[in-house]
Amino acid sequence: MRITRAGRAVMTVLSLLVVAVSAKYLSFDSSTFFENQRATYLSHRLPLYVHILGAVTALAVGPWQFSRRLRERRPRLHRGIGVTYLLGCLVGGVGALLMAPVAYGGAVSGLGFACLAVAWLVTGGAGLRAILDGRVADHRRWMVRSFALTFAAVTLRLMLLAVAAARLDFRTSYTVIAWLCWVPNLLLACWFTRTRRTSAAA
Ligand code: HEM
Repeated sequence: MRITRAGRAVMTVLSLLVVAVSAKYLSFDSSTFFENQRATYLSHRLPLYVHILGAVTALAVGPWQFSRRLRERRPRLHRGIGVTYLLGCLVGGVGALLMAPVAYGGAVSGLGFACLAVAWLVTGGAGLRAILDGRVADHRRWMVRSFALTFAAVTLRLMLLAVAAARLDFRTSYTVIAWLCWVPNLLLACWFTRTRRTSAAA
C-alpha cells in the first residue's frame, strides 16, 4: 500500500502548520507558552527548548522523505534529510523523556508521553540500524512507524481543538489524548507496513 499524493500533501501541510505554531517557543517569550504549564516550563527551560528544537526539526523535514521522486533522483539529499530527521528525533526524544515527568495531567499523561518518547527513539534507531545493514525494506517500515509517532504532535493538537470545540473537561481529555495521540498512529503504521510486506511477498 502506498500513500497517495493528496494524503502526502495533507500530511505535509498539517506538519508544517504545527511546526509554525511550535516555533513560537524558540522566540524564548514565555507569554506564548502553554498557559497551564507556564510555571513548569519556566523552571524546565533547558529540556523544553532541547525537546522543541529537535522535535520541530524532525516534523519539518520528515514529510519530504515520503517523496519517491526525491528518494530516487536525489539519494544524497534523501540521506542528508534522513540524518537531520534522526538527529531531530534523538534530541527531541531525550528532551521529551525529561519533560514527561512534569507533563500536564499528572502521572497518566506523563507515562503516555514517556512511552511515546521511548517508541520514538526505538523506531528511529531501528530505522537507522536497518539502513546501515543494507535492509532497505525494513528501513522503510521503521521510518514509516517513526514518522507516524512524530505526527503525534499533529494528532494531539487536532484532538485538543476538538476538545475545545466540544467544551470537554480539559485535564481529563488531555490525559486521554497523551495516549490517543500516538497509539492509533502506531497501530495504523504497523498495519500499513505489514500490508506492504504481504503484497511485496506476494
Ligand atoms: C513524538 C514524540 C514527542 C513526545 C514524546 C513529546 C513530549 C512532550 C512533552 C512531555 C511535553 C510537555 C507536555 C506538557 O507540559 O503537558 C511536550 C511539549 C511540547 N512539545 Fe512535544 N513531544 C513529541 C513530539 C513533538 C513534536 C514533533 C513537536 C513539534 C513540532 C513537539 C512540540 C512540543 C511543544 C511546542 C511543546 C510545548 C507545549 C505546547 O505548547 O504544546 N513535540 N512534548
